[in-house]
Amino acid sequence: MKIIVVGTGYVGLVSGTCLAETGVHVTCVDIDKSKIEKLSKGIIPIYEPGLEPMVLRNVEKNRLVFSTSMKESLPDAAVIFIAVGTPPGEDGSADLRYVLEVAREIGQHMNDYKLVVTKSTVPVGTSKKIRETIRKELDKRQVKIKFDVASNPEFLKEGAAVQDFLKPDRIVLGLESENAKKILNRLYHPFMLTGHRIVYMDIASAEFTKYAANCMLATKISFMNDLANLCERVGADINSVREGIGSDPRIGNKFIFAGIGYGGSCFPKDVKALIKTATDAGYDLRVMQAVDQVNNLQKEVLFNKILSHYKGDLKNKIFGIWGLSFKPNTDDIREAPSLVIIRKLLEYGAQVRVYDPVAMDETRKILGERVSYGLDVYDTLIDANGLLLLTEWTEFRILNYNLLSKIMKEKTIFDGRNIYEPAEVIEKGFAYFGIGRKVSGK
Ligand SMILES: NC(=O)c1ccc[n+]([C@@H]2O[C@H](COP(=O)([O-])OP(=O)(O)OC[C@H]3O[C@@H](n4cnc5c(N)ncnc54)[C@H](O)[C@@H]3O)[C@@H](O)[C@H]2O)c1
Repeated sequence: MKIIVVGTGYVGLVSGTCLAETGVHVTCVDIDKSKIEKLSKGIIPIYEPGLEPMVLRNVEKNRLVFSTSMKESLPDAAVIFIAVGTPPGEDGSADLRYVLEVAREIGQHMNDYKLVVTKSTVPVGTSKKIRETIRKELDKRQVKIKFDVASNPEFLKEGAAVQDFLKPDRIVLGLESENAKKILNRLYHPFMLTGHRIVYMDIASAEFTKYAANCMLATKISFMNDLANLCERVGADINSVREGIGSDPRIGNKFIFAGIGYGGSCFPKDVKALIKTATDAGYDLRVMQAVDQVNNLQKEVLFNKILSHYKGDLKNKIFGIWGLSFKPNTDDIREAPSLVIIRKLLEYGAQVRVYDPVAMDETRKILGERVSYGLDVYDTLIDANGLLLLTEWTEFRILNYNLLSKIMKEKTIFDGRNIYEPAEVIEKGFAYFGIGRKVSGK
């Protein structure tokens, strides 16, 4: 079987590569010429563990090819997965222009039956718009060609995307034709060998399911952050509370870590998009409005602690930042809380030095030379007034207190992810500030 995956970002490149791994022929199409040129030379434009060798292996076996031309790729393909971006529009709604552009191209160039599957996160009703767009193009060409649309939202996590795709918790398929079901069952069968985890539903419910999943996860995070802020005020410790509730299987121990707010290319935009969908439908989605509001405030909580510790004077103070990506194991800094904190520090005249194992290049594209880039973890902290831990990469987990004591000007640690033990840090002579911790300060 030959398929096309349109959009070679985190979702498209991973999906295309994993599908090629099963033996189907995949053409990954993107309008970004430089991306396709790089991929054709074996250069992977994103950091995703395990992806590079898999791309190279499948390219070598001629099962995975890259192209900028939908027109040239279409004739041979039976299935087209749409995996282009759906960034937030000005009013919070998902911007569908890239998705519908792909639909237009399909309608302009298809010559026989196609199954068009949407993997991008899109609001309810988008598959209908895709169908109408394709039909309009076919009408313009005065041809009648059969096609089906389907919804197949993607649940992979950046940083573990390859494993998630190969061993999914579940695959959600929104369908309206038996033929689409047959084709997608065949494509996903290789990933289902250890259990049947395909959930079938109508297209609107499948589109909604993706938002429901991301909004639930965002809610867990904002809930814990809100409670963390209260813990500080009443003398409780959010880490103990987390352990106390996480062992209850009804609650679960994942996504209940307090911190500096959620970021990334999905949660912030998907929460906003669902709120907008609700508004358009004449409904107030109150829980999600609160989740969004709490998250915006949470991104400033650590900065406010810094400002208060230095009594409002950050001018020329030096801060060493560990971690820039919105979470570990990715170079994605879209909507990362680190950017909010760094911009605030710069606004107050502080000097900022940053270090991240993989996200420095992406950060440089956004912040340029407004910050300086550490050569390694500890280089970032020479003469620093404070250490800010913003992303919990494994390499930051154990502190070399002796070295820190020697190189830092002031022994102060702001732990935005609660990965250090306050009592231990304080015992080593450092001031410690976490999120919702009972022990804080000197
Ligand atoms: N990143 C994630 O973890 C994740 C997880 C699940 C779902 N999603 C959803 O999947 C979609 C893609 O996300 P992403 O993070 O992979 O995006 P991305 O921004 O990394 O990649 C999107 C790609 O689409 C390309 N593109 C745009 N218009 C195109 C066109 N007309 N033809 C061909 N290519 C085109 C862009 O050049 C870009 O390379 C979004 O809707 C997102 O919400 C993302």
